[in-house]
Amino acid sequence: MFQITKKRVLANQIYLMDVKAGRVARSGQPGQFVIVKMDERGERIPLTICDYDREQETVTIVFQAVGASTRRMAELEEGEYFQDFVGPLGQPSELTKESSEALQKKKLLFIAGGVGTAPVYPQVKWLREQGCRADCIIGARNEALIILEEEMKQQAAHVYVATDDGSRGFHGNVTECLKDLMAKGNEYDQIVAIGPLIMMKFVCLLTKELGIPTIVSMNPIMIDGTGMCGACRLTVGGETRFACVDGPEFDGHLVDFDEAMKRQTMYRTEEGRALLQLQDQQSGKEHHESCGCHQ
Ligand code: NAD
Ligand code: FES
Repeated sequence: MFQITKKRVLANQIYLMDVKAGRVARSGQPGQFVIVKMDERGERIPLTICDYDREQETVTIVFQAVGASTRRMAELEEGEYFQDFVGPLGQPSELTKESSEALQKKKLLFIAGGVGTAPVYPQVKWLREQGCRADCIIGARNEALIILEEEMKQQAAHVYVATDDGSRGFHGNVTECLKDLMAKGNEYDQIVAIGPLIMMKFVCLLTKELGIPTIVSMNPIMIDGTGMCGACRLTVGGETRFACVDGPEFDGHLVDFDEAMKRQTMYRTEEGRALLQLQDQQSGKEHHESCGCHQ
């Protein structure tokens, strides 16, 4: 059992929790995720790690109460427990594989959309620990939905806030904000975009035009998180990839976002899930190669 040691409401229906999970806290890296389950009946919910404290042995997660399971999760209070807290899963961010010297020479920009600000935070924090201060755009529909702005300001070189309705900062979405930054003379060697699929799609269309390499973090529907069930299948550069074991980060210019969005929509209904499973079985793409079933 994994105890909730802190709970905070960040915005309407957006919650932050610190969870006592020693193994994940000791070995988690920026970019990785956990799968959380409340109890026997609970759905398995994948969440990118937002922060970790190796000494306190806690892991921070941020989630939006949108479905039945996340709404039940939001009702848990400090001192209560999750039954399962499995991780760290997936590959650490590509940036963690570069030397501090190489990172310090790069001009990096993070584009965080809505709840996607949570998985951006540990990367920006980790970079600062390597002596590299990145810029960050935080995009939200309105002022009330901006999360982790103060925390991000402590780690980033510059934080630019953009709201769709203009209630705070730049008036417009994150791609318009990026265009504005570029028009003002800012240049970037690499961009990391994390947020809703539609946002990552349009950021990548723009950065492809601008010739700026862009990493995205994909969080499709996940079930087992171990490459066996095929639920998180994506097409990247024409090849089948599984977000849970090959990702969650990928080269955004190679991701088939339209397919990912179609799968996400189909997963919302039981009929759609059954159809997807059938299609994956027929195409032989229901399992990851690592399970050995294609050998
Ligand atoms: P949202 O819909 O409020 O959008 C956040 C921002 O993204 C907007 O303010 C805007 O700046 C930008 N954006 C949205 N559509 C855009 C477009 N067409 N072109 C350019 N920019 C656009 O975001 P939300 O409600 O917080 O997001 C919820 C979604 O984010 C969920 O589907 C969730 O699964 C996903 N999410 C993804 C990750 C990840 O790791 N990729 C992490 C957390 C949440
Ligand atoms: Fe990735 Fe099952 S969640 S293959």
